[in-house]
Amino acid sequence: MATSGSERELAAARQRIAELRDEVREHEYRYHVLDNPAIGDGEFDALYRELAELEARFPELAAPDSPTQRVGGAVAEGFEAVEHREPMLSLGNVFGGDGLRAWYARVLRLLEVERAALVCEPKIDGLAVSLVYRDGVLAAGATRGDGLRGENITANLRTVRAIPLRVRGQAPPAFEVRGEVYLTQAEFERLNAARAEAGEPPYMNPRNTAAGTLRQLDPAVVARRRLEMFAYQRGWAEGGDPPPSQWEALAWLREAGFPVNPRARRFGDIDGAAAFCEEWAGRRAELPYAIDGVVVKVDAIAHQRQLGVVGREPRWATAWKFPAEQAVTRLREIRVSVGRTGVLTPFAVLDPVVVGGARVGVATLHNPEQVEAKGLLVGDDVVVQRAGEVIPEVIGPVLARREGREDELRPFEAPQRCPACGTDAVRDGPTVFCPNRACPPRVARSVEHFASRGAMDIEGFGEKLAERLTRLGFVTGVADVYALPRRREELLALPGVGEKTLDNLFARIGASRQRPLRRLLVALGIPHTGGETARDVAVHFGEMERLRAASVEEIEAIDGVGPIVAQALHGFLRDPANAREIDRLAAAGVRMSDEVSARGGPLEGDVVVLTGALARWSRHEAEALIRELGGRVAGAVSKRTSYLLAGEGGGSRRAKAEEIGTPILSEDEFAARLRERGADPDARAAGGA
Ligand code: IVH
Repeated sequence: MATSGSERELAAARQRIAELRDEVREHEYRYHVLDNPAIGDGEFDALYRELAELEARFPELAAPDSPTQRVGGAVAEGFEAVEHREPMLSLGNVFGGDGLRAWYARVLRLLEVERAALVCEPKIDGLAVSLVYRDGVLAAGATRGDGLRGENITANLRTVRAIPLRVRGQAPPAFEVRGEVYLTQAEFERLNAARAEAGEPPYMNPRNTAAGTLRQLDPAVVARRRLEMFAYQRGWAEGGDPPPSQWEALAWLREAGFPVNPRARRFGDIDGAAAFCEEWAGRRAELPYAIDGVVVKVDAIAHQRQLGVVGREPRWATAWKFPAEQAVTRLREIRVSVGRTGVLTPFAVLDPVVVGGARVGVATLHNPEQVEAKGLLVGDDVVVQRAGEVIPEVIGPVLARREGREDELRPFEAPQRCPACGTDAVRDGPTVFCPNRACPPRVARSVEHFASRGAMDIEGFGEKLAERLTRLGFVTGVADVYALPRRREELLALPGVGEKTLDNLFARIGASRQRPLRRLLVALGIPHTGGETARDVAVHFGEMERLRAASVEEIEAIDGVGPIVAQALHGFLRDPANAREIDRLAAAGVRMSDEVSARGGPLEGDVVVLTGALARWSRHEAEALIRELGGRVAGAVSKRTSYLLAGEGGGSRRAKAEEIGTPILSEDEFAARLRERGADPDARAAGGA
């Protein structure tokens, strides 16, 4: 029997629950629809938990449209078929501006008008769903199916947080909303990382993963996958005035609490629409989800009715399709290439196929373990992907296409021997490499790297030339580059080699002798030694001979150089073959010192850390200046720091300096210090990086 006390408690709980539901809904709306959350995840979780706990204590106050009721119910045995009240249509395609203009011309002709406003929406590569709301509450959700009948996946769709369980404000007593459920790229990658960890094969793409997820029988699994949705159409409605245009329908959907793609735009005529499509064809990689085109719709609903439907395709809308970024093709062979450091990298030889607008015949496979992890067999039909500018990649086999072809398939075997020189391959973790330094492709890649920008920067000395000269025996190591001018006659005798081109190349080779030590260190291709490390090391030691004489400890004493880098450098320079090559470079007249000697400069011995925004110099200029004057720049404040040079702002480094008592210099104080020591603070650093 309820006492008056517990009745009061119940009344209080009822009120608090109502408040919490409104608040949680509001925050979900701000997060998913407005993309403008007002509170952090932690605060949201606290509200959500308070609501869930109250509802658990007062089960009589439970309600199916409470935001806590997304996952409920049991695992389904299957999905029942549902008939769509109005068919879910598909779209015709166009593949460029001409096609789009032809579609529009027909629209104008049929409507007998001069122009018609259009709405353009990114075409999300997900799954179309139909959502039915009754009395403001989500009553049913279904897949598109064949367009006439879909599957009832209400329990799964309820778990999608972007789908409101209850609409906001006034809405017709019953209506339908259509939209696209999708997975973000980030969520897709998160799922695949988890699968890789569990030793499971990766999913092919976000679309298939979203589709597979919605067909999960256990809604709890669906809830964990964090699906998203954009609403793009208001379907049928009982009662209420329908919005007179697609543009107003989108606004209505947003008001009602549905996420609407913020990139959608309305244009008065075809030019703007075509430009929008072109633009997104180039910018698709910027979006956090996959799109395969742009949907272009005639804006006025009256026009849409007039234009009608032919077969399953409305005449009032079309899809500007982007070139597919994935394609299926046959994996003919797996070959192995040899890199600069001798790493043997398997790559796929494919039946050529157009992906992302380009013909693809080869794709990388990274390392032998990846081939196995992806479950690839030579002879498989495979999914190939080319997203943006990146190198094409084999995603995985199409298992369904193996049937009946089993005896055409064979596994790939990790190379036992280098395919180029036959030397026994060596395994190191997931990588396999050729230990032979004279291995021709290794030499060619080393020489190509040596001549590249950021290294010795010999313009015109690219992959092809490096490969050819190695193959013909003109170069067996990087130092041979400087011997080429002496072999002018022999080179001129080669087919396709012109006198002028050759002499220009020789001039550039000659000029490259003057590159500072920092560039030479990069050019040598020392493991773990990029541009910044090379610069720090070169400025510190000033001369190659001093660096070569240094111990691991002495190298590691440089700020920003850790034990791995120090080991790598030391080991590389002491290696007899490398030492010989460096001697040959020196003998060829290659400079073995840096532009600026750190020794004897006015800031010698100063270890400077920078923080905040400087007014007098850019960060880069200040660093270069300090180095030029013999000081060192460090990334973090430590006991070794001489002082912190602090501009406007500056957070953790300033706090740390204050904590351990490191002197903090303003820009003016730093400039005064330079003047005191006879340096001109307004001089710009000459060396740069
Ligand atoms: S409108 C008649 N709008 O594309 C209207 N569809 O190829 C048909 N899609 O099944 C749908 N984003 O899955 C429309 N903004 C958007 C869309 C979109 C993605 C998908 C949807 C549809 C397919 C048609």
